[in-house]
Amino acid sequence: MSRILKKILGSLLTAKESDELISAFDQVGNIIIVKIPDSLLPKKKLIGETLLEQVKSAKSVFYQSSSVEGEFRTRDLEIIAGDDKTETEYKESGCRFIVDVRKAFFSPRLSSERMRISELVNDGEVIVNMFGGIGMFSIIAAKKKKCTIYNIDINPDAAKFCQKNIAINKLAGNVISIHGDVSDVIRNELESKSDRTLMLLPEKSDEFLNLAILTAKNNGIIHYYSHIHADKKSDAAKLSEQHYLEVAPVKSTILGSKIVRPVGPRFYQTVVDIKIKQ
Ligand SMILES: C[S@@+](CC[C@H](N)C(=O)[O-])C[C@H]1O[C@@H](n2cnc3c(N)ncnc32)[C@H](O)[C@@H]1O
Repeated sequence: MSRILKKILGSLLTAKESDELISAFDQVGNIIIVKIPDSLLPKKKLIGETLLEQVKSAKSVFYQSSSVEGEFRTRDLEIIAGDDKTETEYKESGCRFIVDVRKAFFSPRLSSERMRISELVNDGEVIVNMFGGIGMFSIIAAKKKKCTIYNIDINPDAAKFCQKNIAINKLAGNVISIHGDVSDVIRNELESKSDRTLMLLPEKSDEFLNLAILTAKNNGIIHYYSHIHADKKSDAAKLSEQHYLEVAPVKSTILGSKIVRPVGPRFYQTVVDIKIKQ
């Protein structure tokens, strides 16, 4: 895709400008989302119309005018070409998802991590997905293995879309969408219940670590995500292990760690897989 786009945009932009644009381009179903550097904003409509014309499966092009932010981790989107419609259908790993890219967090860039987690899950596990969003990780895992997953999210739209996605993937009873603050939900109903806990809010993993431990069974596994600064990319995963061990309040065995994706210059989203002893 990026080679084709580069060719398309080549007539409008310099090689450096089109490289910048392409690294900030996502397609979700029939929606294209593009981040545009300030220097190119005067050309945003032209960029939108060109993308819409050339990417045949696209119906809308949105310019992402803010970073992912706020409690719900959503972003501001401005229509620059096509239909002003932010709801679409997206397919991944044999599952279907109804997504609204304005109302709830969604990233196609986490697909490899979703696949990795789904391959680690064992039949019969109880899983707590603490910041579950519209249910991407939960549904892909539950489609693979017979498990029970509590998908918790504080954003009412995310919980509503998760409910729809459970229905269209025929996973009622396997994935349970819970709308609420994870602190209340775990304290009220999910203490010591989880074989595997996902912490997909990397900015706040330290703040919520005690809660992840509270929901975990003895010998439970926690997937602890964080954002790590590393001058050398090859150091990022080890640095995230060291950071976890500095903040961990319980005896923990590190099972592995890796970079999930780059999130800025010399910044990486990482995951550390941990088995905890209560
Ligand atoms: C980075 S998104 C991850 C969503 C999902 N796991 C995914 O990968 O698609 C983090 C999610 O945490 C939710 N969130 C933030 N604070 C929360 C809290 N205290 N309790 C429950 N959910 C929360 C946000 O609404 C958002 O949907």
